[in-house]
Amino acid sequence: MKTRFPLDQFQKLETPFYYYDVDLLNKTLDEVSSLARQYGFRVHYALKANSNVPILRRISSRGYGADCVSGYEVRRALETGFNPSDIVFAGVGKADWEIEFGLDNGISCFNSESIQELEVINEIAGRKGVKAPIALRINPHVDARTHHYITTGIEENKFGINPWDWDKVIKCIGRSANLDWQGLHFHIGSQITDIDVFKGLCSRINEIQAWFACNMFTPKIINVGGGLGIDYSKPDGDGTDFKTYFEIFSQHLDLQYGQEVHFEPGRALVAQSGSLISKVLYIKEGVKTRFAILDAGMTELIRPALYQAFHLIENLTSDRKELLYDVVGPICESSDCFGKAVNLPETRRGDLIAIRSAGAYGETMSSNYNLREKVKTWYSDEIISNEQSTHTPSGKQVG
Ligand code: LLP
Repeated sequence: MKTRFPLDQFQKLETPFYYYDVDLLNKTLDEVSSLARQYGFRVHYALKANSNVPILRRISSRGYGADCVSGYEVRRALETGFNPSDIVFAGVGKADWEIEFGLDNGISCFNSESIQELEVINEIAGRKGVKAPIALRINPHVDARTHHYITTGIEENKFGINPWDWDKVIKCIGRSANLDWQGLHFHIGSQITDIDVFKGLCSRINEIQAWFACNMFTPKIINVGGGLGIDYSKPDGDGTDFKTYFEIFSQHLDLQYGQEVHFEPGRALVAQSGSLISKVLYIKEGVKTRFAILDAGMTELIRPALYQAFHLIENLTSDRKELLYDVVGPICESSDCFGKAVNLPETRRGDLIAIRSAGAYGETMSSNYNLREKVKTWYSDEIISNEQSTHTPSGKQVG
């Protein structure tokens, strides 16, 4: 029987819900900010991983910057205490209103991904009588060796500016009076677990930097993006080696005097702190295993359905003999499956199930398919201090 969670409290709460271990979150945030400080690196947290207000406040209060990919995320970052001068705005398709919003709020950088976008930013900035700080997101053609849906730095991907456009980009910046070129941006993918990939990225960045320098463009900022993977089989947070990660960039990047190195981790900062807690509705016999049908589904956590992602599944309330289960949700899709042939202690209606490492790309990717309502969010400090009791109305999110 697992004891990590406040089970007595959980029994009183309406399921499903997201639960965040605030101590683990704080510990991870403190570790990363202190390491980054040691190396002289700047970290912008990628809001897309988790944009809950209490989590963002914890992140901003520790001096992190924010990496946003929509005007809505820029607005959320501003509302949760990030300084505009610490907000960067990436994304392959920024709408005009989003560019205007970023400019009006004085964000620190637009990571731009195409010549046409540069022209539009230049034009809007000109209309407003301001200079737009920009970095060029480069497609470095480095394979992140991760799931192909979250691979972003190879030739076939829509992201970044490809080598055949670099000459044109330099000319475009040269003729654009309202662009203030700051640096180069890279992001090759997510859930990267082969650490050698980052060494390959560094050498490619060195070559690309050299090419730009030959063309009289020496970047002030090298933004290496995010992507550091976590170990989904170790949800208690002891799997992520941030030190080795930073060390690789420190050793392998050729830096010029005064250059800043920026990082944009999302998942690695928040994933391990979150769990999706669900109740077993029914058990049904299948052909080779049996189905444990939960009250949470792909609407709450789509990663297994979309990327065939593994999340550790635990029965929090049973220590009976282990059996095999296909752990599924209630949604009308066969892809609504959290895990096939999962070993669980014999599971019965009413048991509590934790789906671990769900703090990143869980809530932010949830949907209301089947008209399901957004589930509630609980944080370990409020659950323990508040003694929140009985069933709370659903659809009212604390985050
Ligand atoms: N910077 C940029 C420009 C990005 O596009 C991303 C993620 C990040 C930083 C943060 O990457 P991270 O450190 O979290 O790997 N929904 C997928 C992940 C999509 C990642 C998209 N971009 C998943 O659930 O695995």
